[in-house]
Amino acid sequence: MNTTVLPVNPRYPQAKAIAAAARALQQGGLVAFPTETVYGLGANAMDADAIRRLYRAKQRPAGNPLIVHVADLAQLEGLAVDIPDPALQLAQRFWPGPLTLVLKRHPALPDLIAPQRDTVALRLPAHAVAQALIRATGHPLVAPSANRFARPSATRAAHVLADLEGRIDLLLDGGPTRIGLESTVLDLSRQAPVLLRPGAITLEQLRAQLADVRSGGAMLDLDDDDALPESPGQYRRHYSPRAELLLYEGEEGAVLAAMQDAVRAHAGRGRRVGLLGALPDLADCEQVSPGEGQEATGRGLFAALRELDARGVDVILARLEESGGLGAAINDRLRRAAEGRIIRV
Ligand code: TXA
Ligand code: MG
Repeated sequence: MNTTVLPVNPRYPQAKAIAAAARALQQGGLVAFPTETVYGLGANAMDADAIRRLYRAKQRPAGNPLIVHVADLAQLEGLAVDIPDPALQLAQRFWPGPLTLVLKRHPALPDLIAPQRDTVALRLPAHAVAQALIRATGHPLVAPSANRFARPSATRAAHVLADLEGRIDLLLDGGPTRIGLESTVLDLSRQAPVLLRPGAITLEQLRAQLADVRSGGAMLDLDDDDALPESPGQYRRHYSPRAELLLYEGEEGAVLAAMQDAVRAHAGRGRRVGLLGALPDLADCEQVSPGEGQEATGRGLFAALRELDARGVDVILARLEESGGLGAAINDRLRRAAEGRIIRV
């Protein structure tokens, strides 16, 4: 399959490009497109064959549930049932935006969207290209992150091509995505609201609207598409670079000293070391900084991990963020990628 790449203005998407992409989706094809979080790989949510194709293209196990993307609140009608008031309040407050709500599923939806569940995850993205594409297609779109299974999510068109070229019909290239971390996922289908995945809408923001949101679902979120199955009951591997990722937690000076030791030790064994960040005092390692400050770090995190992989390092050293605000989401992605390799100094 040839993957067509169409450049598109991220704020004022060209009607011609959107029409071509919508046509591909209406014919059961797969189209990657930018959202404010990461690139999504879209398929018509009402077309079970297209969804099957999507699982194959991503090499994603079929049991993992998908997020359905809508262009306005009215589209919720045919997708979810028994929508609780808090869901509508949160949608009013945070949509369009990086918040996904898990609700009870409408029976008209293909079962493949969330096999063996009676729920559906819904999101209204805050990106002109995503909205225009959903409207032009005339159907909601399922869109997992547009990366190959077990790779970091794609935040640039080049990442999508690196993972999926020749496996998808079309890519709308709208430049780098603004947030860079996948949406916050909140489950409102059960008695108590549970945060399943932290994101740019923070736990603090959610609790300001809905006091009893529980966190802690995230570590047990075994359903993420980027998971590699390991032994049953274990946490799985997510968002992983090819290199081994080692995380450091602690006071800045102590972390720097520990990293210096680690660089020497690994280099001594002939391994190439990478650093996620910029530390002029740290010699003999490849350094790629996602950016300064939490927003820039979130935006550049996956690109930096991919860049370090491209440079061929064997091991990547990184420091965990402060845990408040966006730090929770950044640390969540880092921890999953590190598979628990955290060094406290
Ligand atoms: O920002 C995002 O959410 C991006 C963009 C493209 O919208 N999409 C994305 O999709 O990250 P994906 O498939 O990579 O991640 C979907 C997450 C997974 O953690 C999955 O387990 C969860 O949402 N999810 C989907 N449906 C669910 C359901 N019915 N119940 C619980 N969790 C669900
Ligand atoms: Mg994903």
